[in-house]
Amino acid sequence: MTHTKAPIGIFDSGFGGLSILREIRKVLPQYDYIFLGDNARAPYGTRSFQLVYEFTLQSVNYLFAQGCQLVILACNTASAKALRTIQQNDLPHIDPTRRVLGVIRPTVEKVGEISRTGHVGVFGTPGTIQSRSYDIEIAKMHPGFSVYGHACPMWVPLVENRESDGDGADYFVKKDVEALLSQCADIDAVILGCTHYPLLIHKIRKYMPPHIQVIEQGHIVAESLKDYLHRHPEMECRCSQGGSCRYLTTEDATRFSSLASVFVNEEVAAQHVTLAAK
Ligand code: DGL
Repeated sequence: MTHTKAPIGIFDSGFGGLSILREIRKVLPQYDYIFLGDNARAPYGTRSFQLVYEFTLQSVNYLFAQGCQLVILACNTASAKALRTIQQNDLPHIDPTRRVLGVIRPTVEKVGEISRTGHVGVFGTPGTIQSRSYDIEIAKMHPGFSVYGHACPMWVPLVENRESDGDGADYFVKKDVEALLSQCADIDAVILGCTHYPLLIHKIRKYMPPHIQVIEQGHIVAESLKDYLHRHPEMECRCSQGGSCRYLTTEDATRFSSLASVFVNEEVAAQHVTLAAK
């Protein structure tokens, strides 16, 4: 079967996925990308399993309708709550040759190289922490490691509302860093298990003791995608190579564009889209 070439789809509930997109474009600048942010319905982190699944499936279907053959869920909450069902139940009906990949597994693969004590902290949305996805994946890949999760329900709203540099962010970041570290004195690596959190990295580093490694996902996911495309030439040849990026948002396009331009360090002219159930 011959397939037309299409951009790689990158999805997040909001702005956070831009932290992944930016690193992917550094490592794989040759491909075309479509970024879709469901800002109108963010945050996902406090929503039910069913809603995160429905919203994520709608977004994946939208990107498929744009022609994308490969979609990255640049969102831990969606990776935790929707990825497996989409891969196992939906893709076989939609198109078994297309692929949807998440961000949790590549991050977990890396943590084994980073932590020496085997005591790993995870910051995430309430949804990601409650799903215990990191605990489950780390137990599979690094038996013997201990995982300490802490949900930070205020961090995504701070980012989505452009408050990541404000004093309010200091208050919540300090409180949450202390709460995570109080669980175990031997934690030596902390995963930022939400793609919005790198946008708070300066505050996180300010309150994190320097001997603790803070693991950002962007570069890890980018390298993992590069490796995936290398191992899957049948998918690689379906990804178009023009170096372009289109931005779509379910919220106001002007508001999205102005903030996104800061994150990705280039002029963004986003387009508003409406997602619907199929
Ligand atoms: N950025 C997303 C994540 O990685 C979710 C943020 C949210 O919508 O709550 O989990």
